[in-house]
Amino acid sequence: MKIKVADLEFEPLINEKLIIERVKAIGQQLNADYQHTVPVFVGVLNGSFLFIADLIKEIDIPCEIAFTKLASYYGGTTSKLKIRDDIDLMVDIKGRDVLIVEDIVDSGNTLHYLVDKLKQRGPASIKVCSLLLKPAALQKEIEELQYVGFEIENEFVVGYGLDYQEMGRNLRDIYKKV
Ligand code: IMP
Ligand code: MG
Repeated sequence: MKIKVADLEFEPLINEKLIIERVKAIGQQLNADYQHTVPVFVGVLNGSFLFIADLIKEIDIPCEIAFTKLASYYGGTTSKLKIRDDIDLMVDIKGRDVLIVEDIVDSGNTLHYLVDKLKQRGPASIKVCSLLLKPAALQKEIEELQYVGFEIENEFVVGYGLDYQEMGRNLRDIYKKV
């Protein structure tokens, strides 16, 4: 069923059930990979808020959660090179195992910026977990990107935290622009 978000039309791409199944599987993988440490999960606001909330519920090893806020889109449907740094991380990550939790990697510029910035603070490790990845849009390889929920075509999506003009974050499923 098609839906309208702001002035654009969208159609279903990934349903809630599939998302939840995939989030569970990633959570189990993280429980195994981080069993000997206490990782800090860093959610990138706003887009990752539902993903990190569901993901953290699958984690059964000791862990911490923190947030940072970046923006690169400013309401459009194509990525802007300029990144706005809105809220910095409030925890000291020196010597910690950090897992950045993102909603989507498009050009990769936002992630590249964030990984570089956090690396300078001396974490023991940095890895990235993104719910979605658009491989065809990726402009630079990000070796830290080790966990991906779904690879999608180079199309604009909303729902499950992702927005178009700040709308559509509340949708349970993920939709693509018609
Ligand atoms: P990148 O810097 O080009 O990789 O863009 C990443 C950021 O842009 C993500 O964290 C999202 O907030 C936003 N973004 C990228 N693609 C989409 C999309 O299809 N829908 C909604 N937001 C997107
Ligand atoms: Mg984002």
